[in-house]
Amino acid sequence: LLGFGTVGSSVAEILCSNHFPNLQLVCIFNRNVARKRQLWVPAGVRWTEDIHEVIASDADIVVEVLGGLEPTADWIELMLRAGKSVVTANKHLIATRGRELAKLAQAEGRRLEYGASVAGGVPVLNAVSAGLAGEALLRLQGVLNGTCNYILSNMDASGMPFDKALARAQELGFAEADPSDDIHGIDARCKLAILAHTGFGLHVEPEQIEARSIVGIAAEDFQQARKRGRTIRQVSMAERTAGGLRAVVQPAMVRANSSVGQVRDNQNVLVTTGHWGGETTFAGRGAGGGPTAVAVVSDLLAIARHQALGGARADSAAEVQCDFHFHHYLRAEVADAKDSALLEVTLREAGLDIQESKTSRKRKKGKSATTRVLLLGPSTTAKVEEALSAWGSQCPRCVLPLID
Ligand code: HSE
Repeated sequence: LLGFGTVGSSVAEILCSNHFPNLQLVCIFNRNVARKRQLWVPAGVRWTEDIHEVIASDADIVVEVLGGLEPTADWIELMLRAGKSVVTANKHLIATRGRELAKLAQAEGRRLEYGASVAGGVPVLNAVSAGLAGEALLRLQGVLNGTCNYILSNMDASGMPFDKALARAQELGFAEADPSDDIHGIDARCKLAILAHTGFGLHVEPEQIEARSIVGIAAEDFQQARKRGRTIRQVSMAERTAGGLRAVVQPAMVRANSSVGQVRDNQNVLVTTGHWGGETTFAGRGAGGGPTAVAVVSDLLAIARHQALGGARADSAAEVQCDFHFHHYLRAEVADAKDSALLEVTLREAGLDIQESKTSRKRKKGKSATTRVLLLGPSTTAKVEEALSAWGSQCPRCVLPLID
């Protein structure tokens, strides 16, 4: 077991629980082992800070829950070459190096499983690769990051401030080591790239997928969403196009009663749309030690049973577009009447259709503040953002597509 953090210690707990007697934990690798040692781990389990001790061990399978790209990718390569199968929860690694590592595993006659890398405890990769193998998938849409979902659903339900919700998600073990990966959509786009590969057989580099941050969303944006029967979630979506794939990760206003609108806390959801079977929804705990450890142990058991889980779909490089067209909600704080008029002119000049417009004035910290809330006709989010940069104002604003 490489890594004894939130997920690693939960994996060890399951393996030491005697529920799965055919799986035996033999060795734990971590930095500063003295600080990590636990009395509940059987005395026969070796603790080490030396990766070469793991490579040289007689373990059949290595579980990698260290995270990061380097040196983790090199170590996985060494493990596969040493004849060990590998189970990993590392979405960055699979999204960027998965293809080459899968080829190596195949060449070595070993297995590389990564069911825990997307949606934590929700077995979406197995569901898409095996359960929906007979479907012609058209679209994948969902919430793939538990940290963003924890932040947004708690800002919505209890008015918890952004920073407090993020700190709580970190304490609960949902957030990445660098939580900016969560809140700027980097984690979710790695997961979407893996899903697109599994579901569509298309090879996508995560950087080809546009990712937008949830930073800047304020309590009043939730109030505005509520007035429209909506809430705000970080949505990951990918659909097949004639030439390849259209994919983005971004915060959006979604219907409050939709599958995506109803996910709370660290939950994830994936809605697949298929040509033959229509919509299928998968939901559950997408982040955290327990749920992710279950996914890891399930992969261990799959290897132990020699169960063939590999996707049978083709694997070709994809051309990725990010130009989904939606209505947009725009909240902009304006400095004065001139600023406000300039905003409207700039939006119209960019070809954006202003379908609704409200202006409200409040006193904030002794100063009067004017807020414009606009509903814009269908366009890409990038086009709205371009228009806002042409507007030039540095005042706070929030742009959210309305997604059904
Ligand atoms: N940081 C990730 C999340 C962990 O919040 O979803 C699970 O991949």
